[in-house]
Amino acid sequence: MESTYLPLADCPGPAAAVAFDRIAQDYDQRFTDSLIGRAQREAVWKVLTRTFRTNDNILELNCGTGEDAIFLAGNGISVFALDASRQMIARAQQRLQHTAPRLPVVFCELPTERIGELRPEMQFDGAFSNFSGLNCISDLRAVASSLANLVKQDGRLVLCLSTRFCLIEILYYLALGQWRKALRRCKGYTKVTLDGVEFAVYYPTIRQIRQSFAPNFRLYSCTGIGVAVPPSYLETWARNHPRIFPLLRRLEELLATMPIFRSTGDNVLLCFEKVSR
Ligand SMILES: C[S@@+](CC[C@H](N)C(=O)[O-])C[C@H]1O[C@@H](n2cnc3c(N)ncnc32)[C@H](O)[C@@H]1O
Repeated sequence: MESTYLPLADCPGPAAAVAFDRIAQDYDQRFTDSLIGRAQREAVWKVLTRTFRTNDNILELNCGTGEDAIFLAGNGISVFALDASRQMIARAQQRLQHTAPRLPVVFCELPTERIGELRPEMQFDGAFSNFSGLNCISDLRAVASSLANLVKQDGRLVLCLSTRFCLIEILYYLALGQWRKALRRCKGYTKVTLDGVEFAVYYPTIRQIRQSFAPNFRLYSCTGIGVAVPPSYLETWARNHPRIFPLLRRLEELLATMPIFRSTGDNVLLCFEKVSR
């Protein structure tokens, strides 16, 4: 697969990339391999395998340590995977090298804000972004417009973003009397500090995301991720409740596509198709 893109000017990356550089070594242990991370990711994979087919060629944004890219490639899908964090990309490359060096995956360091610099002849059957990388982007319209040039007609986008209203989070922090934390997503923007690095995080509503991707992309499905399964900071609780957690996973299957519930989970998974204009 083609692994080069237009030569890029050497500009500083986003602050989020500096933060993720710092946690890259621990990311899989903290999230990918956690009970909650695994449960939420498997729900995403169900939709991914329904959406993309063997021999498709996918652009992955904010790929992190490459868990999804390696999964997709294991299913015969070629993946060109990008992330702004050099250390996350280094981890992804190491994992690929150690686990499955022959899989059709290329990992590259590139912020999502700069995908417009990819060579225009690079054309993809679809694009994918998992677990909140797009919440670090202030201008989703610009991303949508670049994707419109990179994704083929009828191509699909599968985008998983943190929601604006996470019911479990609101109830949990209200019960602890921490109302600021309970409502932190509700105004649509907050500053997050990760390992001492502060960066901006945006919480667009589903309607705002849909509008940002129109008119080139049409939203056709919406699935809640983390509707009954709690956010990942409740991992200790999940481990201490080995009987309840599997029940929550089953409940999640029931609620994930139900109106209202599907938009009040920790994340929402949105599928778009590229439409002709
Ligand atoms: C929560 S992690 C998710 C990683 C991966 N998609 C996963 O499912 O595990 C968010 C990722 O977004 C990346 N990221 C944040 N801002 C970005 C940007 N502006 N451009 C590209 N990647 C970005 C981070 O470096 C990090 O790897």
